[in-house]
Amino acid sequence: MPRLLVNIDHVATLRNARGEGVPNPAAAARVCEAHGAAGIVFHLREDRRHIKDADIYELKTAVLGVLDFEMAATDEMIRLSLELVPDLVTLVPEKRMELTTEGGLDLKTLFDDYRHRVVPAYQGSGITISLFVDPELREMELSAELSVQAIELHTGTYAHAFAAGEYQQELDRLAAAAERAHQLGLLVNAGHGLNRNNLPAFMHHVPHLHDVSIGHALITDALFVGLPEAVRVMAALVDPKVTVRP
Ligand code: PXP
Repeated sequence: MPRLLVNIDHVATLRNARGEGVPNPAAAARVCEAHGAAGIVFHLREDRRHIKDADIYELKTAVLGVLDFEMAATDEMIRLSLELVPDLVTLVPEKRMELTTEGGLDLKTLFDDYRHRVVPAYQGSGITISLFVDPELREMELSAELSVQAIELHTGTYAHAFAAGEYQQELDRLAAAAERAHQLGLLVNAGHGLNRNNLPAFMHHVPHLHDVSIGHALITDALFVGLPEAVRVMAALVDPKVTVRP
């Protein structure tokens, strides 16, 4: 069954606005897991604009379920992730000036670097590697050639198409990519821009989903209904049979 992973970066954004200790991302992670999240995602960016280094060690201790370390494949991040040993490392492109991750990895350009430097670094680490890619068949094939275990489908274009009211083509593109990734033996994760409105059509049309990661919309909902309720609602949209950790 698909599982909800909550991205808690924006809890850190709010904490950093005052430069003090609250709200604490690890405390938020515990609440998320207690109300239906199967795990937690954090993105340690090179500029440390939200999650800070100290947070990742607190999260490692606090999170009981899946811990997903989202990062650019720099030598520094690879070193930190190998030291932390999360369950999952999701590799994303990162640009300093972007407000959020803007698209998937261009694996054709990155292929040699990933084959020789990035993927071998994790051999024997026990960490599952996931590549954040656009829903294109070529990216699925290249991911399989790199022998990683998972891909995360970039759903940002779908989210924008949904908001504009014309989204069937994007859903078809995501479904075809998910089907191909599954045939190739890859776990199919997804995320970016998902929310309560666009999630039902996405879950209905896209097969083989494993982890669905949601951040901004869920933390936004939490401002209005509280974090426990925001997580319960989103977790039930990802998997109606979700059980809450005792
Ligand atoms: N997955 C990846 C790879 C991301 O970069 C992000 C944004 O940090 C998300 C999922 C979550 O996206 P959102 O905050 O729009 O839900």
